[in-house]
Amino acid sequence: MIRFEGVGKRHPDGTVAVEGLDLEVPTGRITVLVGPSGCGKTTLLRMVNRMVEPTSGRVLLDDTDVAELEPAKLRRGIGYVIQQAGLFPHRKVIDNIATVPYLLGWDRKKARARAAELLELVGLAPETAKRYPFQLSGGQQQRVGVARALAADPPVLLMDEPFSAVDPVVRAGLQEELLRLQSELHKTVLFVTHDIEEAVRLGDQVVVLREHGRIAQLADPHTLLTSPADDGVAAFLGRDRGLRGLGLRPAKAVELRPVDDGLRYGGWELALDDERRPIGWIDRSAGTAELQPSAGYRPDSDTLRAALDAAVLSPAGVAVALDADGRAIGTASREAVLAALTPAGGGPVSVRKPDPADAMGTPAGADTVGTADGADVVGTADGADGGR
Ligand SMILES: Nc1ncnc2c1ncn2[C@@H]1O[C@H](COP(=O)(O)OP(=O)(O)O)[C@@H](O)[C@H]1O
Ligand SMILES: [Mg+2]
Repeated sequence: MIRFEGVGKRHPDGTVAVEGLDLEVPTGRITVLVGPSGCGKTTLLRMVNRMVEPTSGRVLLDDTDVAELEPAKLRRGIGYVIQQAGLFPHRKVIDNIATVPYLLGWDRKKARARAAELLELVGLAPETAKRYPFQLSGGQQQRVGVARALAADPPVLLMDEPFSAVDPVVRAGLQEELLRLQSELHKTVLFVTHDIEEAVRLGDQVVVLREHGRIAQLADPHTLLTSPADDGVAAFLGRDRGLRGLGLRPAKAVELRPVDDGLRYGGWELALDDERRPIGWIDRSAGTAELQPSAGYRPDSDTLRAALDAAVLSPAGVAVALDADGRAIGTASREAVLAALTPAGGGPVSVRKPDPADAMGTPAGADTVGTADGADVVGTADGADGGR
């Protein structure tokens, strides 16, 4: 665990970067620091590996004040990833990744074998090993940066806007990759970003910061989105914060109507082949046999967003839940998907009253979509302007 205790940083020119911060970063989880430029994120991150020394308070790593640890040694036990990867331009990829093992005195063969293993772990082809950083795309360079940080298997990973310089598609891929890695490696990750979308996607806990590193809110992503601490946090989260929960929750939370309970929804009927694979929707009220395409999702691997998307695309307003072989295992209406946004037992309830006008942003069309008892989830704060 990393613990910040009354941590402050006042620069010699009088600038107060951080003031009186208390924070616990739990072991084996991803904690994201998010906030506007200049609020002190980088300062806080660099205090952990002593690239910045606090002027008040202390930073503890597993109950030891990092000030008592020798900086070089401390840093070898902490992976550090920055924007644009910060790779050594004159070193091949393999040797960039092996930087810390070399520093630790591993023999060359062992260090390179470890580096090759990591190359594969972060999803890069083996032939990447002998390239130089300038021969790689931005996204590939970031993967090398992550591999380098993981080389000596440090328990702690510090990541300072590591994916900010790549385009949105590559960025989404890198985020997914980080989550996959984390599910295997369980590092203690302190991740800095100015992008709230990235924060709620990656964080087990999200720390929203204001200027001088003051904590505006510390919460898990779902609580943050549904119960922002104040109007400032709500504005930072943006207008569609209620819907963002769709991308956070697993689709298996949706209560399915079993296929055996019938396949009729209003005038629409879902047609299945002998293997129970969907063929399409038939409009029984129209008296024709014309098929409209059905849309499906995988409850075991998709999020609520995919389930809602499938329900919206279907003419009957119903998504078909599929198993790995594409067989229908149940159906889910738009209402059922949205009901899963609010956990059973109510979950966190916002004190804010929903503004009906904001439901216009609902992709399914506000007039046709029931919000179950999730109205408080879909409403957004008054005065939120969608900006950060
Ligand atoms: N060496 C320095 N001297 C004076 N002010 C600094 C120095 N480094 C950072 N700052 C100031 O400290 C504040 C926090 O900076 P930083 O931690 O880099 O913010 P962030 O990473 O959130 O953008 C900013 O106002 C910045 O200008
Ligand atoms: Mg910064």
